[in-house]
Formats: sequence, C-alpha cells, structure tokens
Amino acid sequence: MKTKLATRKVAANRAVVKAAAHTAAVVPLKSRALNFGGKWDYAPALEDFKHIQIAPRHELFINGQFLAPHSGQYFPSINPATEQTLTEIAAADETDVNNAVQAARNAYENVWSKLPARERGKYLYRIARIIQEKSRELAVLETMDGGKPIKESRDFDLPMVAAHFFYYAGWADKLQYAFPGKTPRPLGVAGQIIPWNFPLLMAAWKIAPALAGGNTVVLKPAETTSLTALRLAQILQEAELPPGVVNIVTGAGATGAALVNHPGVDKLAFTGSTEVGKRIAGACAGTKKKLTLELGGKAANILFEDAPIDQAIEGIINGIYFNQGHVCCAGSRLFVQEGIYKTVIKKLRDRIETLRVGNPLDKNTDIGAINSRAQLDKIRKLVQSGVDEGGELVQSRCALPSKGYWYAPSFLTNVTMSHRVAQEEIFGPVLSVMTFRTPEEAFERANNTPYGLSAGVWTDKGSKIFKLVNKLRAGVVWANTYNKFDPTSPFGGYKESGFGREGGLQGLAAYCQVD
Ligand code: NAI
Ligand code: MG
Repeated sequence: MKTKLATRKVAANRAVVKAAAHTAAVVPLKSRALNFGGKWDYAPALEDFKHIQIAPRHELFINGQFLAPHSGQYFPSINPATEQTLTEIAAADETDVNNAVQAARNAYENVWSKLPARERGKYLYRIARIIQEKSRELAVLETMDGGKPIKESRDFDLPMVAAHFFYYAGWADKLQYAFPGKTPRPLGVAGQIIPWNFPLLMAAWKIAPALAGGNTVVLKPAETTSLTALRLAQILQEAELPPGVVNIVTGAGATGAALVNHPGVDKLAFTGSTEVGKRIAGACAGTKKKLTLELGGKAANILFEDAPIDQAIEGIINGIYFNQGHVCCAGSRLFVQEGIYKTVIKKLRDRIETLRVGNPLDKNTDIGAINSRAQLDKIRKLVQSGVDEGGELVQSRCALPSKGYWYAPSFLTNVTMSHRVAQEEIFGPVLSVMTFRTPEEAFERANNTPYGLSAGVWTDKGSKIFKLVNKLRAGVVWANTYNKFDPTSPFGGYKESGFGREGGLQGLAAYCQVD
C-alpha cells in the first residue's frame, strides 16, 4: 500500500499548528464511517447506548447509602468524544471524607474484620459475578465517560475487572497459604486514589485485594471518570456488602488531599502522576500510614534486527496507541537497531495511517477520544517541544471529528535522549523513535529515564531476551508481546515510577500485615 503521509520537518510552530488544525478538521461524528480516505471502508458499527440510563446527578457513596455532599457542590462529567455533559457529580469536602473514613472504620472494627474469611470471599465472588452480568453496560459507560474505544472497554477493561475480583475472592480464605508460616492481619482503613485512564479497572485493582485482606476502603475516583465507580457502588449494594466496607468519595485533587491527610487512614494506595505521588509520599512521611505508589512511565520497546518485524510492529503499535496512549506502561519510546531503521519507519508510517480514530462507541474504532481538554493541551505542548528541539513529526492524516478531544496517531524521529519527548511522559498516542547498535547500548539507553515501569524486547533470540531482562530497570518486561496483563502477575515500578506492587500475591501483601 502506498501512503502519502505528512512527514513534517518543520520550522517549529508549523507542525503543531497543523496538528491543531487537524484536530479541527470537520467530520461529523455521526456520519463518519471511517477516517482513512476511503481506502478500506467499514460501515459504522455503533454499540447500542440508548438503553443506558445515566441519572442527571450522582451523590457520594458513604456507609452503604448515596448521600448529597456537605458543601452542596457538584461538578459536570462530560463525554470527551462529544463534549456533552453526561451528569453532575458530587464534590466531597473534608467533612464528607471524614464521614467516609468514620464509616469505613466502623465497618472495619464491627463487621468486616469479624467476618469469617470465607464470608468475605463470598461477597467478592458475588461482586465479580454481578460485574460479569452487567459488563456490557459498564463497558458502554466507561467508553462514554472516558473516551476509550468500546472494543477496549468491552474486551480488555471489563474482563480484567471481573478477573481481579475472582482472583482475590479465591485468596480471601486462604491467607495463611498465601503467606506460609505467617499470620497475616488486615491493616485497617485503606484510602485509595485512582486515575482516569482505566477507571473501573483501577478501582478493581485496589478494592479487591483490600477486601480480601480484611480491610475496608474509601476510594476516590478521578474527577473526569467517576461514573463507573459509582455504578460499582450500586453493584455493592446489590451484592449486600455490609454498609461502610467500601465508600466512594468523588471530587478533584482537594478531595484526594483530604483523604491523604486524614489521620484515620491506615494505608494509602495511589495511581497517577509522579508530581502528585511525590506530594503524597511527603504527606505520609512520619505517619503510621503504609503507602504504595504507581506513578508514570516512559517505557522502551527495543527492536532487534532478528525480530519478526511485522509482528513486532503490531505489538509496538498496540503498545503506544492502545487506549490513546493513556497508559502508564505505554511503550512510548522505540529503540530500533540501526540496520532495520528505514524498514521500520516505513512500516510504522503505513500502519498508523490505517488506524481508525473517532467515535469510541464504534466497534471498529482503534483510537478514541483524549480524556480531557487539559490532557490534549499537554500532548500538543510536548509534541511541540519535540519539534522545537529538532524532532521530525510523522502524523496520520486521518480526519478527526469536529467536536471532542482528538489527537491523530503520531511518531517523532530524529529524537535524542535529552529531548523532553524522550524523557517526559506524554500520555498520548505519540511515539519517540531512536536507534541503537549493540545490546549494551540498547539497555543503557532504555534505562536512561527517571522512570522504570515497563519495557519490551523484540528478538528471535531467547538469550538476548534473558540478557536484557536482567539489565532493564523496569517492573515488567514483555518479550515479543506488549501490554499483556493477568491478575496473578504483580505490576509496579522502579525509580520514579513508584513502589509497591499491585496484582498477584504481592498485591495482596500490600494490604496485609505479614509477620
Ligand atoms: P493526577 O495525578 O493529578 O490525578 C490522579 C488522581 O489523583 C486523581 O484522582 C486526582 O483527583 C488525584 N489528585 C490530584 N491531586 C491530588 C492531591 N494533591 N492529593 C491527592 N490526590 C490528588 O494526574 P492528572 O493531572 O490527571 O494527569 C497528569 C499526568 O499524570 C498525565 O498527563 C500523565 O502523564 C500522568 N498520569 C499517570 C497515570 C498513571 O497511570 N501512572 C494516570 C493518570 C495520569
Ligand atoms: Mg467524563
């Protein structure tokens, strides 16, 4: 296939001005069946969402009940693909957070920690099964509130959400086998703050092991994506989970900070930006609070000449464009061995041109909406800095809808290790491509970042994989694949990507006193 891509070695501003103009290219969302110039047309295949009920207002979930916020304040949650307001969400202040922590304490002391472990397991199984029953509805809500393609929320997020509840349900009455020779005890009340990139999945990663370990929870979802957490609250009611075992307080950073600073919280778990993570670590220093942090990443995909290139390109594409690049372990840096550089660049160009960007509710959509205007601005700014520093921007010419927040899949060549785009988390569908000659050079370059969450190695040789895995300072290394997850497998970072692990036994240990 011959493609004409916009390769722009631009006098600085032009690339992003063009990218911005691009964003404004008018293709109405409803009538757009595809977006790559009529090459391979797909008919629209919209997921049905008309039966999905979204209440005009969402309250806080405290002590098993939905309650209006103390301040009377609400904020809108919008659909980033249409900019339409879906509902308004209660803004919890310190009083509400205090009430939620009290409810969690009460439930911990009087109910949850006294229940036989097998009973805790039964609740978790029940929750997992109800999530499975409602998975299509939850997937549609996740897509509408956050902008991710339905094929991801339906085929990745929701199955993983249920799998995490099932997995930790299984451990609830087997803690002494999880930690042989030890007497695992719960920590108490867990405060949990989650981001907007995998809203329900992050809630599951945090709630399921906490409850299995015998703890109670106050969860704060991200302000742009609270809907599915609040739908989960309804599921908890349906499962007859005792009141106060899980409380959900919605709001922005101030609500999170109130939870972080509450003296009644025994354990804090945070996933989000390194900046906020550092602030939380500071606030917890010198307190009794146990802390786990899952922060950003700047993962390297290392592509050797002997790799099956087409398979590798698919994995690399998935690694960076999956979920609009809103993934902490996104493979946002690609290191290509010099001998195959030209071939790889050509294949990447061809492939990004065929990615379908647009209505996230369309089952054929590969790349949905950027989660918020603020995130879109951040992506544009960082790409601009890459161009200013001498990078060459290659961007798909796909048309983008007129409303909503969109960014065409892009990559930058001519990038050096010192460029901001090679060091900072972009959290968007933008790949920075660099080269290497020897395996030593590959891992040295890959490790040259403040982060250390994940990495990928593509080669035909098992020996090379083992060599690199031992040298890469990353919590997860995928070999000849990318972005594969399983509840049994621990996930977490080195260096500024945070500390502590989620998933697997390590994720359970983070919610137990094991001695
Ligand atoms: P953020 O770190 O501000 O938000 C994450 C969560 O923390 C949200 O629930 C937010 O309300 C809460 N929060 C904000 N300020 C807080 C505070 N002072 N105390 C307690 N909680 C607080 O991330 P943001 O601003 O949404 O995204 C900025 C960048 O962070 C992104 O561009 C991306 O690079 C990175 N990020 C990384 C994520 C990851 O999975 N590691 C997830 C989300 C963002
Ligand atoms: Mg939203």
